Amino acid sequence: MGISKGIDLAVKDVPQKLAGPDWLVEMERREALFRQHGFDMAAGIQFALSKILPLNGRILEVGSGKGRFLTALARKVANPITSVDIDPAEQRFAIQQTAYYGVDARIQFEIRDAERLGWPAGRFDAVVTMNAMHHIPDPWRALAEMVRLLKPGGKLAVCDFSASGFYLMDRLQQAEGKTHPHPARQFPAWQSWLRAQGFKTNTWVAQHEEILLAQG
Ligand SMILES: C[S@@+](CC[C@H](N)C(=O)[O-])C[C@H]1O[C@@H](n2cnc3c(N)ncnc32)[C@H](O)[C@@H]1O
Repeated sequence: MGISKGIDLAVKDVPQKLAGPDWLVEMERREALFRQHGFDMAAGIQFALSKILPLNGRILEVGSGKGRFLTALARKVANPITSVDIDPAEQRFAIQQTAYYGVDARIQFEIRDAERLGWPAGRFDAVVTMNAMHHIPDPWRALAEMVRLLKPGGKLAVCDFSASGFYLMDRLQQAEGKTHPHPARQFPAWQSWLRAQGFKTNTWVAQHEEILLAQG
């Protein structure tokens, strides 16, 4: 699995060649530490994008977080993107990061609860979420909201840690003295439910990520 038994997340282990504003350097340094222990977030994001692109029309991202996935997505598509998060402090990182990489012009940021997104039905051509479902208290409600907001024929991509991803994330967070939400795996149930709603679905697992793609 590529992870050492005792995890020592010492910052000294990371090459000091990172440049950029403090918040970005800190983020990159943490990700470099994770990479050393087998968790490569950038690879996971690229794997997800390789399965879910192309995305047409108006895109909704649920769970901006610090904007890693959003930045990568915005670099690949020319469409307008709306990105929502419940936490203004987290989303501020995403705003800074997308601005830093010059991809913020087409992104609208909003503070909204994934369980009550509030827009009228059928507003988006594509809805995507990356590594956020396990943070949402009722992911089923969030999933139903995503489906409600999709136009007929739209594309829904639900991406979250795979079993190996949760294993690594649990251990890495533990080594940092933190805890991380680790709910029971719901992908098969979500896939069955989406099929019952008339979606065609596909799933993939690699790079410690699980991808569920549903096309209306
Ligand atoms: C790990 S981050 C997402 C990472 C991001 N998608 C990326 O790949 O760069 C998870 C995010 O989900 C957000 N979140 C948790 N519950 C939420 C909810 N009910 N509605 C919207 N966002 C929520 C958290 O605030 C957090 O920013």
